[in-house]
Amino acid sequence: MKTKRALFISFEGIDGSGKSTQVKMLYHYLLNEGYVVHLFREPGGTSISEKIRSILLDKNNVEMTPIAEVLLYFASRNQLLHEKVLPALERGEIVLMDRYVDSSRAYQGVGRALGARPLNYLTKFATYDRKPELTILVDLPLETAEDRLSEKNLDRFESESMQFKRKVRSGYLNLAKKEPSRYLVVDGRASPDDLFRQIKLRVQELLD
Ligand code: ADP
Ligand code: TYD
Repeated sequence: MKTKRALFISFEGIDGSGKSTQVKMLYHYLLNEGYVVHLFREPGGTSISEKIRSILLDKNNVEMTPIAEVLLYFASRNQLLHEKVLPALERGEIVLMDRYVDSSRAYQGVGRALGARPLNYLTKFATYDRKPELTILVDLPLETAEDRLSEKNLDRFESESMQFKRKVRSGYLNLAKKEPSRYLVVDGRASPDDLFRQIKLRVQELLD
């Protein structure tokens, strides 16, 4: 097993952007290369976090306030950090996240209009400002993402209005503009193999 150095990478994008496909490809690639690598999806990843996930995604929870929502995301995240992510990074392993703090910034901060201040505070309080070294944003026009989701049984966020999704997408693009060195933005209209080639190149640079 290769245990070169800890590496923390997150994948972000609107629902249906193709990020889960990419994070899984990277996971299997790194495993094959002999690295110790973990893949977590948010919300979830621990038994408490999975319970919180089912509350958050339940389509019947229409009365949930934006503040209750953001606190639940950070509660799930803090539990996952303590149980799994921080110990793995301390052991010098690779952690891949299918969504992390930037999801809360884009969906709750921008989509739900909570603003940057509470998100900055919660990020410090509940994640100790532990940022990924690299965040891959798979950007995709809303209409293309809608087409990809149309076959699925949609959850609470996937059923949101186009206006909400538009805000989330532009929220992500603004975050990437503010921190260009942490972000790799890829065009999700490319084929899975094409996207993976771009992502692998950047990850390889970090590992070398
Ligand atoms: P997300 O995790 O961002 O919601 P997924 O990776 O689950 O997205 O992909 C959503 C759907 O789009 C799936 O049916 C998947 O097979 C398909 N898909 C994923 N990546 C691509 C791509 N690059 N081009 C076309 N379709 C894709
Ligand atoms: P999931 O089915 O995992 O979506 P995807 O496959 O697109 O990643 O559902 C997670 C949903 O939760 C997704 O719609 C985005 C939303 N979300 C937030 O609103 N804030 C957050 O902090 C996180 C992590 C997710």
